[in-house]
Amino acid sequence: MIDLLCYQDENQNENDETDYKTDQKFADHMQKTIEASSEFAKKKSILQQRRYLPVFAVRQELLNVIRENSVVIIIGETGSGKTTQLTQYLHEDGYSRYGMIGCTQPRRVAAMSVAKRVSDEMGTHLGDEVGYAIRFEDCTSEVGSCSKTYL
Ligand SMILES: Nc1ncnc2c1ncn2[C@@H]1O[C@H](COP(=O)(O)OP(=O)(O)O)[C@@H](O)[C@H]1O
Ligand SMILES: [Mg+2]
Repeated sequence: MIDLLCYQDENQNENDETDYKTDQKFADHMQKTIEASSEFAKKKSILQQRRYLPVFAVRQELLNVIRENSVVIIIGETGSGKTTQLTQYLHEDGYSRYGMIGCTQPRRVAAMSVAKRVSDEMGTHLGDEVGYAIRFEDCTSEVGSCSKTYL
């Protein structure tokens, strides 16, 4: 054991810039498109699926309220589209021109999976226009091109 440690010490490069976290990053594993599993998802395009969500019915009303108020609290059922749709509505309405649209999630897995879902819905590569930032991994691109980040 002691021998091994010495060996590693001798071979240590002072300017070693190896990124030891590379293997622990999830983004590369999440690049492939997830196949639809339900009958609903198989029959409908992703745009049609978005229009079936309850939040779509109040899209314009929400955008009006958001434009007129600096703080808005929106309450809706789980799965109604708050996380995946509201960020896209803000992007579609031009808010991403002024800065990044951020969305917080209570769990790292949730941040990763909704970022993946939204990047699929927008037809972009995860980490380009839509990314996520969790402890030990920042899958967002340079400031400017990443318009939405799930945290
Ligand atoms: N990773 C995913 N794969 C497939 N469908 C998803 C995924 N994430 C969300 N959805 C769909 O998007 C809908 C809205 O989800 P979401 O925006 O997370 O709702 P909320 O934040 O209001 O709970 C869900 O009902 C589900 O149908
Ligand atoms: Mg949510």
